[in-house]
Amino acid sequence: MATCSAPGKVFLFGEHAVVFGKPGIAMGIKPRVFVTVRRGKNPPRVNSPYIENCFEQTGVNGSAYIHSQLPSSSGLGSSAAVTVATLSAINEEYNLGMDRSHIASTAFKIEKKVQRGRASPTDTFVSTYGGLVLVKDNKRRILPPENLSLVIGNTMVSHKTAELVGMVGEFRRSNPHVVDPILDAIEAVTIRSLHNFHNQKTLGRYMDVNHALLEALGVGHPMLTRLVTAARTSGAYGAKMTGAGGGGCMIALCPKRSKSRIAKAIEAAEGRAIITSIDTDGVRTE
Ligand code: MEV
Repeated sequence: MATCSAPGKVFLFGEHAVVFGKPGIAMGIKPRVFVTVRRGKNPPRVNSPYIENCFEQTGVNGSAYIHSQLPSSSGLGSSAAVTVATLSAINEEYNLGMDRSHIASTAFKIEKKVQRGRASPTDTFVSTYGGLVLVKDNKRRILPPENLSLVIGNTMVSHKTAELVGMVGEFRRSNPHVVDPILDAIEAVTIRSLHNFHNQKTLGRYMDVNHALLEALGVGHPMLTRLVTAARTSGAYGAKMTGAGGGGCMIALCPKRSKSRIAKAIEAAEGRAIITSIDTDGVRTE
């Protein structure tokens, strides 16, 4: 029997723009998915296409049990974390000798298959390696970690990433002169944020700007606006939606002393709050 766990992720800057080759910054977060794999011929399994595909890809038989601290379908990369943790537990239990880069690429392949062609390589990368990750020229690399205090607000409104990505693509095709400058502005904010990780007030201001630009792309939602406003008015340096938008989650960058006040304000606005910070472990054996 082997148990492995993998973290979730948030986009700090640049979601949607990364789909068009622009830079983005993502980060592993503390909540994790734990998966236990047991050997066995045809044992019962959790009913998950991600897990089914992990066994299929690795060609072994076994059962898997999930315990998740991450809400699903909320943009925090829970399916990537399930896939990465399952592959890693299979790797441990059957001594398959897969290294991290093999786990990340196999997990991406599985996500792509299950999600019928559209998956985020950033989700599986961040879940495998953890840390602060720069997406640039469609490649991902790990940046030095930063100690950011975040409160995540889950709108509890489910969203479909593929549909939202498709919608932005369509908006761009029909209105390139309007959408391209928005993507350029998101790129500028992402690049400037890289130079301001030690200036949290400025970083927060950039989050506010990034949120407005995502709204201009058409991926806002009234509940996101409500939670972002609640966080800002209760002392956050800045707040923005994270991930695909249209529901899902927002993040607030907080002074350390104000985390619980901001979490309470998010809950009072009918969101579910998670106080968190960076995960630098990535996938690990428990
Ligand atoms: C979803 O978490 C982030 C998007 O930029 C899609 C992607 O990066 O694949 C909307």
